[in-house]
Amino acid sequence: MNLATRYLGLDLRNPLVASAGPMTQTADRIKRLAEAGVGAVVLPSLFEEQIRAEADRDERLAEVGIDSFGEATSYLIDPDASVWPRQYLDLIERGAGSGVPVIASLNGSTLGGWTGYARSVQDAGAAAIELNIYYLPGDPLIPGRDAEQRYIDILTAVKSVVSVPVAVKLTPYFSSFGDMALRLEQAGADGLVLFNRFMQTDINPDTFTVSTGFKLSSPAEATLPRSWIARLRGQVRSSLAASTGVETADDVAAYLLAGADVVMTTSALLRHGPGHVTALLDGLTAWMDRKGIGSVGEIRGLLAPAADTPQAGFGRYGYLSAVEQATRTYAPR
Ligand SMILES: Cc1cc2nc3c(=O)[nH]c(=O)nc-3n(C[C@H](O)[C@H](O)[C@H](O)COP(=O)(O)O)c2cc1C
Repeated sequence: MNLATRYLGLDLRNPLVASAGPMTQTADRIKRLAEAGVGAVVLPSLFEEQIRAEADRDERLAEVGIDSFGEATSYLIDPDASVWPRQYLDLIERGAGSGVPVIASLNGSTLGGWTGYARSVQDAGAAAIELNIYYLPGDPLIPGRDAEQRYIDILTAVKSVVSVPVAVKLTPYFSSFGDMALRLEQAGADGLVLFNRFMQTDINPDTFTVSTGFKLSSPAEATLPRSWIARLRGQVRSSLAASTGVETADDVAAYLLAGADVVMTTSALLRHGPGHVTALLDGLTAWMDRKGIGSVGEIRGLLAPAADTPQAGFGRYGYLSAVEQATRTYAPR
């Protein structure tokens, strides 16, 4: 059984990747994931705000002068805000010793000097960079094209300082997601990670409070990324990573059939622990065995629409069929 795949030009032993999150936050956890068989790991994000905080700190220390360093650290620095970028480089170095490719994650929403940090991340040994652009254009006066251009500009800035591959992790909320995907590819994206989970605040009418609304994902959320992966498979050359809603080996198989090069998981690993990697891989192998499939390459994109399928008609046809089927199933008799 050959589970090997290629992602961002990297040869992976299998398509299961631990996505950014607490499971990849320490060298020890990365080691456990590697022992459980994972194909690669993505580190938790290093945020633009953290990189800026560290740069500010360095600047202020330089102004205060080396003689007063001790005193300066005591009143100028928020230690929590400034420590992480340096620890991050250490985590990359130590994670790389686990034997599986370590993908660093940079997370930001504005263009600025922080993007230069990508170079430090590369120099520390990251096999690739996942660029999570989490931008919510809350101002209703921002035209859609300007919001999209920001993604392109941030990607271009990162690409200009590194030679390792760069994947972009993004949300599906564009007026024409396919166009955005193609523009990112033209701007140099080596891969697309579909999707970032969008933070949607929740309101509790009982307590009159607003919460982050954050929950671990459920498999039902996989349908949106899966259908976009299927649609893009024949349209882009860049790697496609599936992120969201993987709980069982069937979820992994379905993403591969849609056309994913790798399938990522965070929530399931947080629920079940690193050993779940082995369970997912065993389940995938058993499914391939049952279906007489010898390699991941044989099934990748098997159920994606052909590249020459008229997309508008295809989407509309699917929608009409779904309405028809739902009406037949649920209409009162
Ligand atoms: C607790 C937690 C922390 C996360 N931290 C990050 C992060 O730092 N950077 C990032 O790009 N995604 C982060 N994610 C998102 C995951 O990488 C993943 O894209 C998302 O959870 C969907 O995958 P899942 O359904 O397998 O959980 C986080 C998710 C969780 C649950």
